[in-house]
Amino acid sequence: MNRPNLSRTILSLLLEAFPGSVSGEKIGATGGVSRVAVWKEVQRLQGLGFPIVASRRGYRLVSIPDRFDPDFLELYLQRDAPGVRVVYREEVDSTSTLLRVLAEEGAPEGTLCIADRQTRGRGRRGRSWFSLPGKSLTFSFLLRPLLSPSFCASCTLLAGIALAEALEGLGFSPVLKWPNDVLLGGKKVAGILLETATDLDEVSWMVLGIGVNVNLEERDLASLPFQATSLLLEGGVSVPRVEVLRRFLARFLAAYRQWKEGGDFSPWVADYNRRLAFLGRSVTIVGGKSPVSGTALGVDGSGALRVMEGEKERRITWGEIA
Ligand code: BTN
Repeated sequence: MNRPNLSRTILSLLLEAFPGSVSGEKIGATGGVSRVAVWKEVQRLQGLGFPIVASRRGYRLVSIPDRFDPDFLELYLQRDAPGVRVVYREEVDSTSTLLRVLAEEGAPEGTLCIADRQTRGRGRRGRSWFSLPGKSLTFSFLLRPLLSPSFCASCTLLAGIALAEALEGLGFSPVLKWPNDVLLGGKKVAGILLETATDLDEVSWMVLGIGVNVNLEERDLASLPFQATSLLLEGGVSVPRVEVLRRFLARFLAAYRQWKEGGDFSPWVADYNRRLAFLGRSVTIVGGKSPVSGTALGVDGSGALRVMEGEKERRITWGEIA
């Protein structure tokens, strides 16, 4: 077995067994190599920073490696998000800007662009997105549904649900601020930016950009112009960014398959509304020609927000809850 394959075998066995151990014998038998060859490759992986320890029981990972390099990340995502192709940059202006270029060059659906540092992260409505290396999760995911553009706005809500579910799986109780903010304790923990290019009346690509404040500290967030928080601040322990990503992709891909086949957001209306912040309360929607104020009634089967303005129910398809 060549070296890349042996290191993949070692890492996938260790990930599968995490937090347990795997014997050198089992790794050797799986890879068709001697225990000495396994030990040498483990040492090489340790040298690369993989937190592997050896004991009488064999080898184990001390923690999930929070690494974005494609060799590791594709392996880590293999079971929950098979076929995802990772493009990693240590530093980039914006993962969404890069992925838009790759999309125009013909990159396939399922291309994931991830960076440790964004120098010009973009938010909705021309805002910037703040992130820090080692602490933030910033990635963009390429989709090419064969659908009409008018239907596609609800994909941002689908992503919101998947992100909420990912965080719920980690013990958090997020809510969704329509259309695409994820809040914990009333503060923003993640944002979603969906950008779409069309060709005649079909979508040619959609870039789903997601930023999550994973391990940011109080002082990191202090200068933001809105109330923000992080998983670390809310949960009290640091969370591997790859774990948030893996859980998100698993949930999102399952929903996305159904969504693009059915061409309908209705199956997720209850899931969204259950998590909708300000449901039944007064809201103001900004971002359109003029603000709309009323009572939030929930989203409908197209992802529009239903708002009772005085005696009249309105369907809001643009803007955001202020
Ligand atoms: C918002 O809440 O306004 C949306 C924020 C989206 C930020 C993410 S970070 C990864 C991707 N790259 C960007 O430049 N923006 C999105």
